[in-house]
Amino acid sequence: MNPLKYPLSVSLLLASFWAAPVFAADLNAGEKKAATCLGCHGPKGKSSNAQWPNLAAQQSMYLINQMKAFKSGTRSNPMMQSMAANLSNDDIDNLAAYFSSQPPVSAGGDPDLAKTGKAKASMCFGCHGSAAAGNGQFPRLAGQHPEYLIKQLNSFKAGVRKNGLMQAVAGGLSEDEIKALAAYFGSLE
Ligand code: HEC
Ligand code: HEC
Repeated sequence: MNPLKYPLSVSLLLASFWAAPVFAADLNAGEKKAATCLGCHGPKGKSSNAQWPNLAAQQSMYLINQMKAFKSGTRSNPMMQSMAANLSNDDIDNLAAYFSSQPPVSAGGDPDLAKTGKAKASMCFGCHGSAAAGNGQFPRLAGQHPEYLIKQLNSFKAGVRKNGLMQAVAGGLSEDEIKALAAYFGSLE
């Protein structure tokens, strides 16, 4: 059979079928839903308060995992657990699509500490990426608020936030190493 003899309409139909997005999250719905998040996480997910993480340009899969973890209570934080309690799976997909598509931001970090941190950061790149931009379940660390990163590393270390990989990694870090690594990752663009 000669494929060139295929009727044009069938080819167009096939082309539009294959062009259909696999991930059908609704960005506009995500942007609307995000209105309730911006009071803490900032416009477009750029937070100006170091207690509240930047969500801009965070990995979509990671955002979905965290919202579900707050909702089920496997990650505990009173503020976020009450925020996530009312989100449907569609809301979660749409919010993740919205925040992950916002431009990355950089919170900055103490330059001297960042230099020390850079020397120790190579053990993080294998999972978080060589630019710390994250990938899938591995979160972006680049540009995140250092205070927030310190809090998370300490809660992995204490076993309060649960993740086998990160509990093992954080368990081997001293307080000084945690501060230096947080300053380094926070200072990345
Ligand atoms: C009242 C303030 C507040 C509001 C409103 C809020 N959050 Fe949060 N959010 C927080 C805090 C605080 C944390 C950090 C929790 C911790 O320390 O573990 C957080 C963490 C997160 C995280 C984890 C980020 C990471 O890097 O692991 C996600 C995802 C998130 N929020 C999504 C949302 C979404 C989506 C909304 C809106 C539906 C929202 N938040 C509304 C305060 C808030
Ligand atoms: C073996 C893979 C792996 C390595 C190596 C690794 N991480 Fe992670 N990291 C993860 C995973 C997976 C998560 C997400 C955990 C979750 O879903 O709660 C994570 C989450 C984090 C978070 C929480 C981010 C947020 O937004 O809340 C921080 C901070 C972090 N890692 C820092 C580091 C640092 C610093 C290093 C190097 C010293 C490092 N990680 C090395 C796999 C890794």
